[in-house]
Amino acid sequence: MGAGKSTLGPELADRLGRPFVSVDALVEERAGKSVSEVFAERGEAAFRVLEEEIASEVLGRRALSVVELGGGALGSVWTRTALALNAFSVYLETTPEEAWDRVARVAGSERPLARDEAAFRALFGERAPLYDEVADGRARDLDGVVLVAAGVQIGSGVLDRLAELVPGAGAVGVVADVTVSDLYGEVVRAGLGDRLAGESQVPAGEVAKSIAEAERLWLGLRLERGATLLALGGGSTIDVAGFVAATYLRGIAWVPVPTTLVAQVDAAIGGKTAVDLPEAKNLVGAFHWPAETVIDTTLLETLPDEEWRNGLAEVVKTGLLVGEPLWELDTPPQVRRCAAIKAAICLRDPHEQRDREQLNLGHTFAHALEAASGYTVSHGRAVALGLLAALQLSGLDGEALAVSEILAPDPVAVDRDAAWAALRRDKKTRDGQIRLVLLDAPGNPRVTSDVEPDRVRAALDALIA
Ligand SMILES: NC(=O)c1ccc[n+]([C@@H]2O[C@H](COP(=O)([O-])OP(=O)(O)OC[C@H]3O[C@@H](n4cnc5c(N)ncnc54)[C@H](O)[C@@H]3O)[C@@H](O)[C@H]2O)c1
Repeated sequence: MGAGKSTLGPELADRLGRPFVSVDALVEERAGKSVSEVFAERGEAAFRVLEEEIASEVLGRRALSVVELGGGALGSVWTRTALALNAFSVYLETTPEEAWDRVARVAGSERPLARDEAAFRALFGERAPLYDEVADGRARDLDGVVLVAAGVQIGSGVLDRLAELVPGAGAVGVVADVTVSDLYGEVVRAGLGDRLAGESQVPAGEVAKSIAEAERLWLGLRLERGATLLALGGGSTIDVAGFVAATYLRGIAWVPVPTTLVAQVDAAIGGKTAVDLPEAKNLVGAFHWPAETVIDTTLLETLPDEEWRNGLAEVVKTGLLVGEPLWELDTPPQVRRCAAIKAAICLRDPHEQRDREQLNLGHTFAHALEAASGYTVSHGRAVALGLLAALQLSGLDGEALAVSEILAPDPVAVDRDAAWAALRRDKKTRDGQIRLVLLDAPGNPRVTSDVEPDRVRAALDALIA
């Protein structure tokens, strides 16, 4: 009561593209009167019977929705069981002071159980253990709810708690970028304790994303079905290790621990995994949602400048998609906000049937440049260039100028025909038509096949030195 569910619930439903269902509102609809009137005329026991009946109906529905349960609904063992079986439950945390302040200020007289502060505090204390029992995650704000729902943990020093943060109790095999292993391998191994079941290393950078590296990892793994693979490194390590986890023994659980800005704001979220083929990037892969993603922004302290710039390109992409200057934020809030934005889009459309396509803003061009360079051009630099092409084709020249000032990407020296051939093999192509993500305005992306190939080619050529 007073945690802010009624405000946050509809916003969350909107973010996730799901209907919002308030059990209290349905009680009022069925009873034909307000909750206070039901309490006053029929008593709390009768209200709880009706609440339990409606909660059971709502939690038994197959359609995915965001459900708001009243503060006292967890008094019912049936409702607690239905939550355990059918729902992901987020405990929206608040202090008794904040909660009382909110109910007293906003709607004190409307709430039958919030008329006296001492009684309210006592009830708060009584209910807390029930919330603890059912909570799959805890959050204090909207981004926090999205992040726990997507299985993303962000904090500093989280590596020390890896044994606890990797779901389950089984063995954990580690796949680490060789450079990152030198820096953080020891902390990760110590954090996993008895659960550690061997470490394999992959070379630093994009070269790790090959079928040959995947095969080497498959052959070296000694894990059973119930085990988890932990990926330690940037987007390259995470993409290949995630792909190996998706395919080894027909799929085992995995946990990315991203160590670059690119990976913390983007690659480690949402379960897209892949390796490259010489013809085109990410051509072989799988959707395989991580069991948990563990992000510690202090790992970025050792990141070289060039990798910061690469990460900034994905931050700018995310900022353009939502119309917020995210590049101006300090690193911890920047990572959290970008991760929450990506997590919401991926929860809404995990298999990229619709909304998730927007995350490819600038990437059709970027992937073509990377493939044409034999994967020697970094992903971040290619994305920075790709954003310029997308903005120019969107008619947003002012934004293109601003982005080129923030990211200052130099054109790349690659073969123009090879880049064009790679672009035409982009995964989004349908019926031979190139599909691009453009912006009507910052915050308003759209996917289109309407740009003439000549204009696309000219925009691509403009990125090549
Ligand atoms: N799956 C997705 O949704 C997704 C999203 C975005 C990008 N990606 C992919 O991610 C890849 C790019 O990943 P990236 O930019 O993270 O680069 P990367 O993984 O290739 O790493 C870049 C370099 O940084 C080093 N490094 C990593 N962490 C470090 C640290 N903490 N300190 C010092 N050095 C460190 C690495 O050793 C490497 O040399 C691309 O292949 C791209 O396609 C995937």
